[in-house]
Amino acid sequence: MRKALLALLALAVAGALVFYLLTIPATVPASALPAHAPDLANGKYVFTAAGCAECHAAPVKGCDDLKTKEKDVLAGGRCLKTPFGIFHVPNISPDKETGIGNWTTVDFVNAMKRGVAPDGSYLYPAFPYASYQRMSYEDLIDLKAYLDSLPAVKSEVPPHELGFPFNIRRGLGLWHRLYVDGESFVPDPHASAELNRGAYLVRGPGHCVECHSSRNILGGIVKDEEFAGAKNPEGKGTVPNITPSDDGLGEWSQDDIAYLLETGNTPDFDVIGETMAPVQENMAQLTPEDRKAIAAYIKSLPARPDAVPKSEQKKDDEEEEDGAAPAETPEPAGEGGNGQQEHDVPE
Ligand code: HEC
Ligand code: HEC
Repeated sequence: MRKALLALLALAVAGALVFYLLTIPATVPASALPAHAPDLANGKYVFTAAGCAECHAAPVKGCDDLKTKEKDVLAGGRCLKTPFGIFHVPNISPDKETGIGNWTTVDFVNAMKRGVAPDGSYLYPAFPYASYQRMSYEDLIDLKAYLDSLPAVKSEVPPHELGFPFNIRRGLGLWHRLYVDGESFVPDPHASAELNRGAYLVRGPGHCVECHSSRNILGGIVKDEEFAGAKNPEGKGTVPNITPSDDGLGEWSQDDIAYLLETGNTPDFDVIGETMAPVQENMAQLTPEDRKAIAAYIKSLPARPDAVPKSEQKKDDEEEEDGAAPAETPEPAGEGGNGQQEHDVPE
């Protein structure tokens, strides 16, 4: 009996040790940063391409109000409702007490590339750093300088309301081992400069994959179903397949896609809405060359059938039309049905 207990204890200790070792946060050292004089104009451009204000700008009314106050007042306060609980988007204005005014550039780079806060704790991937990690060091240094130039706002945001075990940040270490490596985007030497630029914008700052892809039970994106559409985690319909298949963008030309990003109009005279609307507003502010590059990359994606079966898509639409309460889906992540934000949460 005692032997069995001891064995159990040893197993528990070994398990805890393995958990500890597997979940040690990896960070980027300051020496990894290139010498680069910050370019504020580029920082602002990257900020727009990355849609930071969509989540971090203070909402006008309640925490789930989709309208934001000024895009450069990053007081936080929006709430992202997920099946795991509620995330309260933090204040990232340069206020020293309630914002990130004390963060160094390398602190910021670690949040963006490693999903690790200055105190070494993991950040939740509701903050889409699984995409932002692909951004270049230069763009991140510029972005940090731009954030530093914005108004400091004193505003305390309530803590997240997450149930066990999601409230334990350390547990994210395992998720990080699967989905976070901090590697910057690597251009494909065989692809054109336009395609590489498009791939960078889509994969990095644009974080398009976060909303347009289905996720596995861990809240990770299913590689073979990237961009093939996803169920909205809150049950309100689906996010469309944007691969060039019959289920997806099919016959859309590169110009059609670029035009949608610029104007919000689809080739069949529809107007883009839902969570894509604020994304499109940001895309409209990019250069025509960048919109064309994004379109070129989207056109080059492997054509895939819808990841969400048609029957389920229909069911969701009907539910919406009936005004019935949307079913809670098991999908742990995706884009917010309640807001203009995606919240990808590990399960
Ligand atoms: C989809 C919504 C969303 C978007 C878009 C987003 N964030 Fe966040 N961000 C969050 C959430 C939620 C957290 C809180 C994560 C946590 O507590 O672990 C967060 C945390 C952060 C933090 C850590 C703050 C702290 O006090 O620990 C920084 C820095 C940050 N975001 C910067 C940015 C920047 C810069 C951008 C644009 C490039 C951006 N975020 C885009 C949702 C978002
Ligand atoms: C916050 C979640 C979110 C992000 C991020 C996002 N999308 Fe979307 N996207 C949507 C939703 C939702 C729709 C459907 C909107 C509608 O039906 O009105 C959509 C629609 C589209 C469409 C039109 C598809 C069709 O069949 O009509 C295209 C093209 C598109 N997105 C491209 C992109 C690109 C490129 C990016 C990255 C720059 C991106 N999206 C990022 C949520 C998102």
